[in-house]
Amino acid sequence: RPAAATDPAAVAGPAASALVRAIIGQRTDRLPVWFMRQAGRSLPEYRELRVGTRMLDACLTPDLAAEITLQPVRRHGVDAGIFFSDIVVPLKLAGVDVEIEPGRGPVFASPVRTAADVDRLTAIEPAAVAAAATPVAEAVRIVTTELGDTPLIGFAGAPFTLAAYLVEGGPSKEHLRARAMMHADPTSWHRLAGWLAEVSAAFLGVQIAAGASAVQLFDSWAGSLSRSDYTTFIAPHSRRALEGAGVPRIHFGVGTGHLLADMRLGGIADTVGVDWRTHLDEAVEVLGTDVSVQGNIDPALLQAPWEVVEAHVREVVARGRAARAHVLNLGHGVPPETDPTVLTRIVELAHEIGGIE
Ligand code: CP3
Repeated sequence: RPAAATDPAAVAGPAASALVRAIIGQRTDRLPVWFMRQAGRSLPEYRELRVGTRMLDACLTPDLAAEITLQPVRRHGVDAGIFFSDIVVPLKLAGVDVEIEPGRGPVFASPVRTAADVDRLTAIEPAAVAAAATPVAEAVRIVTTELGDTPLIGFAGAPFTLAAYLVEGGPSKEHLRARAMMHADPTSWHRLAGWLAEVSAAFLGVQIAAGASAVQLFDSWAGSLSRSDYTTFIAPHSRRALEGAGVPRIHFGVGTGHLLADMRLGGIADTVGVDWRTHLDEAVEVLGTDVSVQGNIDPALLQAPWEVVEAHVREVVARGRAARAHVLNLGHGVPPETDPTVLTRIVELAHEIGGIE
């Protein structure tokens, strides 16, 4: 196929990396690997840096956020950095009263439950996020300068996963209040989700403008939705959050085996992230071969003896051969109690195996 000006194979730098090429469907000799939550509590150097600083303050301190982003890249030799931040950071930047409680997750001072709550929230201009995002842009610039040819993945939360926290006011198991709003007051739901999509799009835009080479939209809790609710109440908004990103896009969810085809968002997603419950070759049967897959090492396996981990990783890679291209990752985030040396060995193994049979 002739190299067009936009063909990553024809350019240098992070856009030509194995990771970015895999996302858009080009297999290379290198099997790209990174880990969700690679920056974080599994690393002693992270725990040391975080002493005395609250999570959201760390996210909005450029030197600190940049250093935390770089730690796992240096330590593990992964094929990408994932920007150290959180899905609620753009809400914080929009002026929403939110904190991240250690061991618990995001907590909102005022849950958004009624039409009046939605009115008040959506009166905030999504553009306020970009205007307040100087520390984010600064951190991304430090990171991308430091990373050189290694790509940085920017990210945002998908409207449903954000709403799952916002409507409840904090973490919940089945996200009942957010799901209830869809049916009890669909008008308010669509206004809320539409606003969240704009906020996430703005957050992605800031990271891309400052140098991120790819993005991932996290819809971690989408698995709690039926397929019809997903397509009616969620997919158009997630599509909106991602469609303006001018870089390759990954769309990820947990427990979304029944939603995989819809998570392509009509072709907007270049790569679909799959959790450990669905074998990659079975995911490809549903997804087809004009999208790449990412995943899906079971985080629970990281506790097993190395021989067991190795066999599991080899199986994941073998099943991933069914896809047009594969980005090796976990099926969800790195558990805090993970021995980080196991992650380093997985990176070495992935690079030994390679991207082409
Ligand atoms: O390394 C990375 O993946 C990049 C950084 C990142 C964080 N959060 C840092 C973080 C990313 C991509 C996220 C996204 C995020 N945040 C998601 C989607 C991904 C997923 O895991 O499903 C969700 C649902 C959140 C909301 C959130 N923030 C939760 C549930 C928690 C955990 C609470 C806890 O303490 O267990 C957080 C806090 C958080 N975000 C931490 C980190 C490193 C832990 C905070 C700490 O170290 O004190």
